[in-house]
Amino acid sequence: MMPSDLGTSVARLHDLVAEAAAILPFTGAGISTECGIPDFRSPGGLWEKTRPIPFDAFMASAAMRAEAWRRRFAMQGHFGQARPGRGHRALASLYRAGKVPAVVTQNIDNLHQLSGVAPADVVELHGNTTYAACLDCEQRYELDWVKARFEAAGEQPPECACGGYIKTATVSFGQAMPAAAMARAEALADTCDLFIAIGSSLVVWPAAGFPLRAKKRGAKLVIVNREPTDFDEIADLVIRQDIGDALAPFIAD
Ligand code: APR
Ligand code: ZN
Repeated sequence: MMPSDLGTSVARLHDLVAEAAAILPFTGAGISTECGIPDFRSPGGLWEKTRPIPFDAFMASAAMRAEAWRRRFAMQGHFGQARPGRGHRALASLYRAGKVPAVVTQNIDNLHQLSGVAPADVVELHGNTTYAACLDCEQRYELDWVKARFEAAGEQPPECACGGYIKTATVSFGQAMPAAAMARAEALADTCDLFIAIGSSLVVWPAAGFPLRAKKRGAKLVIVNREPTDFDEIADLVIRQDIGDALAPFIAD
């Protein structure tokens, strides 16, 4: 499918949204770039500056755990101030209108929750960076608590009372995907009639498998992304435009 211009695309998306009974938005970092959070693979994105710390390296080395926390606190300027963008607000409007049962996201920035989608209806495939948890007993820890102890101990991360390591509640490369979130995302992909992939390069599996799963099952597939993706060919509509521009017409808050 060839991309079309903004006006034509938005009109077509309006028709697909109107016809749909159950829309499944699937979001990636591109929906949050207008909120000040850089994505990963655009020029100037996060992965240009630092390589991600794989889970085994985090577990194997206190130095890597300290580095992971240093990086997280360095990002607080981005994550702490971020507010939902036009894309988040458009999806929250469709959620409130009863067209969107839940949002599946690869993002860890909590912005879908801040936009008004109930936390139980935000399916986070890669977790959430706005709080931390023990990797053994899953006790939740707030970032301020961790930061105070990290700095007081000369940049040594605190450990849980049970002895487990404390990590942001995100899923690192090499870490097991969250089983409940994956199962919920599969069920949503299997029951939606319109799947909208928004702001994702669709290169990280298993998350990238969801658009294909929905399309194979007969759902219409829309891709909203500035750059081409490997799934454009099978999409019913490709909106290669700025996400905020494309989705702003759906904001009803
Ligand atoms: N409008 C439209 N598209 C945009 C915008 C925008 N304002 N901003 C960025 N994009 C597009 C980029 O062109 C890019 O194709 O969003 C896409 C973001 O892709 P990635 O940076 O690869 O982010 P994502 O697909 O979410 O990455 C998936 O990879 O690094 C891991 O765990 C991390 O969840 C992440 C996963
Ligand atoms: Zn613990």
